Amino acid sequence: MRTIAVMNQKGGVGKTTTTLNLAHALAKRDKRLLIIDLDPQAQLGLGFGYRDGEQGVDKVFLESALISELRVNVRKGIDMISAGRSLAEVESLKHSNQSRLGWRLHDALKVEAMDYDFILMDCPPSSGVLSMNALFAAQEVIIPVSSDYLALHGVSRMLSIFIRLEAALKRKFTKHFVMTRYHSRRKLSKEVLLKLQEYFSGQLLATSIHECVALAESPSFGKTIFEYSASSRGAEDYLLLADDLLLGRTL
Ligand SMILES: Nc1ncnc2c1ncn2[C@@H]1O[C@H](COP(=O)(O)OP(=O)(O)O)[C@@H](O)[C@H]1O
Ligand SMILES: [Mg+2]
Repeated sequence: MRTIAVMNQKGGVGKTTTTLNLAHALAKRDKRLLIIDLDPQAQLGLGFGYRDGEQGVDKVFLESALISELRVNVRKGIDMISAGRSLAEVESLKHSNQSRLGWRLHDALKVEAMDYDFILMDCPPSSGVLSMNALFAAQEVIIPVSSDYLALHGVSRMLSIFIRLEAALKRKFTKHFVMTRYHSRRKLSKEVLLKLQEYFSGQLLATSIHECVALAESPSFGKTIFEYSASSRGAEDYLLLADDLLLGRTL
């Protein structure tokens, strides 16, 4: 089982879009997945057309609920744990001196035997309790980087967090960078891609996700890109990205 946090402290870079559509692409490759929404904005569920109900990952933190009580099946091969209505409250637990607060999700995922190929976690754009829980539970990280000019600045801040965390945990994370919102005719996009290739050679997944209107439209219909526009560039890109992850294809 590969446990992967989809993370970048910058908002709007395509974390949720990537979690949603990469999950569906991997399911199309006959993989079994558990996806977890760790962003209190709760957009992952909406992307699957799921309205947040009583059960959410907030209950792992606030009521020590079991994973098996919280997951719902959203597509063939995909179980999801939505954010839940009280996920925002979890950040304030850091003032309450609770032990193992950063390990709650890790521990919850460990107590039950689970039969998944992948666990994907959609993280909030911050480095609080929820992101720490994702990292402590994960072995790998997918870092979507959008092709705007502040993108690389955000990445270097994240890397300094990783350096400290890896020293504290005494283990390394496998990092996968993904270029998102790529405009093939825009000079800036090409420059950001070249920089990523230069700095993170061997860690940059081979497929760049192009800017694609259908990717932005599909969540409001509660559909993944494969359901909304299977012939779009976005669908093609996310299927290729899934294969990159399965085969270890990088630039
Ligand atoms: N490749 C893309 N092409 C077009 N729009 C995109 C693409 N990726 C993301 N978006 C849009 O950009 C916005 C931010 O994406 P999102 O995945 O929510 O980012 P994050 O989760 O990192 O905040 C959303 O409106 C989304 O639909
Ligand atoms: Mg998001």
